[in-house]
Amino acid sequence: MRVLAFETSCDETSASVVESPFRVLSNVTKTQEEHREFGGVVPEVASRAHMRLIWPITERALEKAGVELGSIDGIAFTYGPGLIGALLVGIVFGKTVAQVIGRDFIGINHLEGHLFSLFLSHPHLEPPVLYLLVSGGHTELVWMPEFFRYEVLGHTLDDAAGEAFDKVAKMLGLSYPGGPEIDRLAKTGDPDFHRFPRARVGGFDFSFSGVKTSVLYYLRDNDADFARRHLADIAASFQEAVVDMLLSKTLKAAKKLHAEKVAVVGGVSLNSRLREKFKETLGKITRVYFPEPQYCGDNAAMIGAAALMRFERGERSPLTLSADPDLRLL
Ligand code: KG4
Ligand code: ZN
Repeated sequence: MRVLAFETSCDETSASVVESPFRVLSNVTKTQEEHREFGGVVPEVASRAHMRLIWPITERALEKAGVELGSIDGIAFTYGPGLIGALLVGIVFGKTVAQVIGRDFIGINHLEGHLFSLFLSHPHLEPPVLYLLVSGGHTELVWMPEFFRYEVLGHTLDDAAGEAFDKVAKMLGLSYPGGPEIDRLAKTGDPDFHRFPRARVGGFDFSFSGVKTSVLYYLRDNDADFARRHLADIAASFQEAVVDMLLSKTLKAAKKLHAEKVAVVGGVSLNSRLREKFKETLGKITRVYFPEPQYCGDNAAMIGAAALMRFERGERSPLTLSADPDLRLL
C-alpha cells in the first residue's frame, strides 16, 4: 500500500509518500520562516503560509518519491490537535486530492503520528512500548501495550517541555524556536553552574512553569552583564533541570511497568543532552529508542506511518470529518 500524507497542524508544512511496511519514499518538510520575527507561531500567518506551500511541497514529495498521483492508494492528513486554521488547510487539501484521484482518506491524530515516528526509524520494533512524547505542545508519558491502544500515564500540568525551552530562550535573548538554540549554547556551558528547581509533582505528571519562573527571577536578580557572560552556563543549567525531570518520571514509569522498550519522540527528543542522559541512565535498565532527526519534529511521514496501519485494518474517515484542535490520544 502507498499513502500520500500531509501534516499542517502548526508551523511545518509537510507532505510525504510512504509505503508499507513503514518505508519512506519521500518526506518534504518546510518550517515556515514567517513566524521568526514574532518570536512564536501566529495562527493566521500559519494558515496562509500552509495554503501557499501545500501544493508545491506535495509536488516535490511526489517528484522525490518518483511516483505519480495516480499510483497513490490512500490519502492521510492530521485532523488534530493543533491550530484550527492550519489543520483545515491540510484537511481540505487532503480530501480534495482524495476526491480527484478517487481514493479513500483517513484523518490521523497528530500525537499518534509522533508515536508512529518511532517505526519509521525502527520498522521491526513492536509494542509494548513506553513512550515519552515531548514537543512544543505536549509532554506525555504513554504506555502502548499493543498497536492503537494507549494509556496516558501522566502529562504536563502547565507548560509543555518544548514550550518551556522556547520561553526561556526568549528570556535569554535567543531566537525562535528556542529549543535548538539552548541545546547548541548549552554545549559550551556548565550544567552545574546553578541548580534550578526540579518540580515535585505526584504520579507521572510533569510541571515546567516553576523552572521557567525560576530562570526569570535568576535573570532579574543578577545584573545583565553577569547573565551575558554566563549565558551558556544558564542555558546548560536550565536544560539540565528539564532533562532531569523528564528522565526521573520516565525512569519511574519504566520500572513500574517493567518496560523493555522506551522511546522518546517529538521535537524535544532532538535534544542532545536528553539523548545522552537517557541512554546513559535509562539504558542501564531498558532499551532506549529515538526516531532519526528528520522524524522527531513535525513531519508528514509519521502521519503516513500511522495511516498505513489504520488503512490496512480497514479504517477510513467520512467526508464529514473536520478539525479537532483539542483532540486527545484516547
Ligand atoms: O514536535 P514539534 O516539532 O512540534 C510540536 O508538535 O510541538 O516540537 C517543537 C518543539 C519546539 O518547542 C522546539 O523548541 C523543540 O521542539 N525542540 C527542541 C530541540 N529541537 C526542537 N528542544 C530542545 N532541544 C532541541 N534540540
Ligand atoms: Zn508535533
